[in-house]
Amino acid sequence: MKEQLAKIRSEALAAFASVKTPSELDALRVQYLGKKGELTAVLKQMGKLPPEERPAMGQLANEVRAALEEALERTGKALEAAALEERLKKEAVDVTVPGRAPKIGHRHPMYTALDEIKEIFIGMGFTVLDGPEVELATYNFDKLNAGEGHPSRDWSDTFYFDKDSRVMLRSQTSPMQVRAMETMELPIRIIAPGRVYRKDEVDATHSPMFHQVEGMVIDKNVTMADLKGTLNTVVEQLYGKGTKTRFRPHHFPFTEPSCEMDVQCHKCGGVGCPTCKGEGWIELLGAGMIHPKVLEMSGIDPNVYSGWAFGIGLERTAMRRFKIADLRLIFENDVRFLEQF
Ligand code: PHE
Repeated sequence: MKEQLAKIRSEALAAFASVKTPSELDALRVQYLGKKGELTAVLKQMGKLPPEERPAMGQLANEVRAALEEALERTGKALEAAALEERLKKEAVDVTVPGRAPKIGHRHPMYTALDEIKEIFIGMGFTVLDGPEVELATYNFDKLNAGEGHPSRDWSDTFYFDKDSRVMLRSQTSPMQVRAMETMELPIRIIAPGRVYRKDEVDATHSPMFHQVEGMVIDKNVTMADLKGTLNTVVEQLYGKGTKTRFRPHHFPFTEPSCEMDVQCHKCGGVGCPTCKGEGWIELLGAGMIHPKVLEMSGIDPNVYSGWAFGIGLERTAMRRFKIADLRLIFENDVRFLEQF
């Protein structure tokens, strides 16, 4: 029996030592220390021993049990520690791995172009105004010297909200000239960017909704020279020093004289190429000296004050700035397009 106990002890300890998992260890616990285990089986034979041998054998059996229980606990703890170590290793966060950058958006190319324009004018002391897209015909036409019956009022020119053609989507940002004259103290220096609407079919250069930036200066002794000087400065800041401009006579009901301003083609330098359609010049904006009648209608004395105004199309500016060939791309908001800017 002594040998049996010694055998159990050495076998069990060896088995514990080579165990790899908690469940293996538990199986061994059952095998050696369980109710039907090997140690119990030996103890059950105790009764067959002569009475004088029982105490010593009992003590030995208890020692073996204690040794096995101690080894069991130790092994169990070691396995737990190893498992934890393993998990820590597996779940460890490598703080040196570069992060995955979240996709964030950026400014739309057209607003980048607008920001540049705003920046330039703010630098020259202009105030930026915001105005209504749903406008009264009075502001869009009448007070801009395009009264009832004027060709530019043709109902098909834009979108009206009522039968009497009084409320409409503004067809230009020029009504902001009137709104500024009616509400602001003189002298006035403003730009007013925003959406405008026209009954245009969508194609590579047209859209029924597009953006303009209106600009206006009213003060004493303001002349056409101020208009040219200011716009030339703006163009040089937008397209680089030495960029040439050209002013052509034109007609707008609310300016007199009126003009259109072209910039020398940045692609060919004025020789003529596909970008400028062989002209050497690209049309940029409409402008002119504010018509005395317009000043008068808004309560400003044209004998004391004079002013100039311009209106520039923002999409075309952005298209030129970012070399965008088709205007529709600006509004489609395809990420593959927008990502390029
Ligand atoms: N409103 C004009 C247009 O839409 C542009 C313009 C603005 C012309 C101001 C002269 C002065 O074509």
